[in-house]
Amino acid sequence: MPLLPKLPSTLAYGGDYNPEQWPESVWLEDVRLMREAGVNLVSLGIFSWSKLQPAEDRFDFTWLDRVMDLLAQNGIIVCLATATASPPPWMSAKYLDVLPVDASGLPLHQGSRQHYSPSSPTYRRHAGQLVRRIAERYRDHPALAVWHVNNEYACHTGECHGPASTAAFRVWLRKKYLTLDRLNAAWGTAFWSQIYGDWEEILTPRRAPHDRNPSQQLDFRRFMSDAYLELYQMEKEILHELTPGIPATTNLVWFVRAIDGRSWAPHMDFISWDCYPDPLTGHGAEQFAAVGHDLMRSLKKKPFLLIEQAPSAVTWRPVNPPKPPGVMRLGSLQALARGADGVMFFQWRASRAGAEKYITGMVGHGDPGQSRLFAEIKSLGRELRLLAPITGTTIRSRVAIVFDWPVCWALDLEAKPARIDYPGWAQELHRYFYERNIPVDFVHPGAELDGYQLVVAPALYLLTKADAANLEKFVERGGTLLATYFSGIVDENEQIVLGGYPGYLRALLGVRVEEWIPYGEKQVNPVRFTGSGKEYPAEHWAEVVHLEGAETVATYGRDFFANGPAITANRHGRGTAYYLSARLPAPGLNELLQLVTAQAGIASLLPAPPNVEVTLREEGRRRFLFILNHGDTTAVVSLGSYQGIDLLTGSKTDARLSLTALGAAVIQLS
Ligand code: GLA
Repeated sequence: MPLLPKLPSTLAYGGDYNPEQWPESVWLEDVRLMREAGVNLVSLGIFSWSKLQPAEDRFDFTWLDRVMDLLAQNGIIVCLATATASPPPWMSAKYLDVLPVDASGLPLHQGSRQHYSPSSPTYRRHAGQLVRRIAERYRDHPALAVWHVNNEYACHTGECHGPASTAAFRVWLRKKYLTLDRLNAAWGTAFWSQIYGDWEEILTPRRAPHDRNPSQQLDFRRFMSDAYLELYQMEKEILHELTPGIPATTNLVWFVRAIDGRSWAPHMDFISWDCYPDPLTGHGAEQFAAVGHDLMRSLKKKPFLLIEQAPSAVTWRPVNPPKPPGVMRLGSLQALARGADGVMFFQWRASRAGAEKYITGMVGHGDPGQSRLFAEIKSLGRELRLLAPITGTTIRSRVAIVFDWPVCWALDLEAKPARIDYPGWAQELHRYFYERNIPVDFVHPGAELDGYQLVVAPALYLLTKADAANLEKFVERGGTLLATYFSGIVDENEQIVLGGYPGYLRALLGVRVEEWIPYGEKQVNPVRFTGSGKEYPAEHWAEVVHLEGAETVATYGRDFFANGPAITANRHGRGTAYYLSARLPAPGLNELLQLVTAQAGIASLLPAPPNVEVTLREEGRRRFLFILNHGDTTAVVSLGSYQGIDLLTGSKTDARLSLTALGAAVIQLS
């Protein structure tokens, strides 16, 4: 099944289209330029609720009818928004209960966007009504291709503490725990006199004098993700009832922590996401994007849609430079290289008014269609047509990195030995594979791991017994596991797993951790690899580790646990489980990862110079090798047996491929 049944063998290309911000005369210019650019899909009307429903008892679809018709006449299909991300002013003026409420009990008002509480029955009623109207009106429209449900759920308001949310939280808790005794046990309420005697006493975790109950907070994060999911499903059910053949998606943002991607993925017909790397992080920007693409592709193990990226500059960082020539193109090809079946932007035409007017559009404020950027947009449109054969192929990985949202939520909570940036740590481990062109997926610790040879689990702080058993089975059957510091510490309720750290992983890793040693900024502890004799300064974190069957791979050089194990390896069944108890700097991490990838029999797709990214997309006999030069000088790559036709140039490959700075090749392998 292709991502978009209406684009069965073509890559999607386009952007957010907000014609409601412009007079009709501009629409004609829009479609002319869209055709020039090769745009075939637009996300339409995402923030148009107040235009579609100017008053509670009045709807106006006439303008949208005209836009839909115009797009259809011009061969452009539509990712039609359900428009529920920004309720109109009349709603919050009349119904205060639609507003989200922060942890201090203060409402977040209209005047921006996303000012709705996911649990407000009033908001849900109005949103449902709007979605039904839109779906009924456009169900048979030739332009309708996919539903864009809401927008970036929870990216501004990840929590709500209003009366409706509090009531819904209690319902959610009753369903989960059935009895108050169970809830009290799970939340450890004997601590600080928090024992509940009635469900009505329970609140969302509000502003309080000091650190709040972590188990309660963790359940609240789960509840909020579920509340938004319920909202998404409410819309999706209406859409599927009225338009069963039209897929529905919503744009995810992976570093927004409020949404549990794993529990959402099965409800999305395909994954789409918004990728905004920080251009001031140099090559870090490419790796940031690569991590995101890999995570999103992994959610369904299928092609995804890059539904938003910036054509050039954004406005929400302190400094927002444009993308220099060639960077937008290469970032777009990178999304395809890592599994996207389409490339879209925020937004088509840069706004004239409003908070986002300095965010670059595919079409800018002056000289529409004449800019340097628009020339690049057109050229990318041409290239995407050449790349159509890749549609529907995906990436096969033998390496997986464990990433789990509840771990992230639990590590984010206050009152820990030290703060651990979980996504950052996952990204740092991903870097090794990215730099060496080793394909990598992200998985849940309870996922089917049979196809993988190496599993890397950064700070798996929260781990259930069942998920630990899953990792154990993986190693028993011959897999290689690398677990890192502060793993296996708490159960799903954020309560310590007693009997010695790292809890359920203790036997598998063959170690017992006795103490954690978080370090201040300038403190380090040299970690020495027994094999190579090389030493690297561990920063941020070390542990006092005792061997219980494992062998020492590296030792600490300092402190009261000097000469004690820092890195260990434990044979278990037919596989090996490594444990890294410290935060190593990149060179040390590289040495360790080299060791574990060799142990697991993992090799690079193709050796390439630094900053040259290589990926392989395949499906059956269709195989495509992407080679992207993110560097600022020419790079030469020996292709070995990877021979075929470069889809971008139409030429046959030679033994060596030379790519100029920011150059790319997509080789259809013969
Ligand atoms: C997000 C939103 C868009 C827009 C862009 C601006 O991704 O989904 O509506 O605000 O950011 O960068």
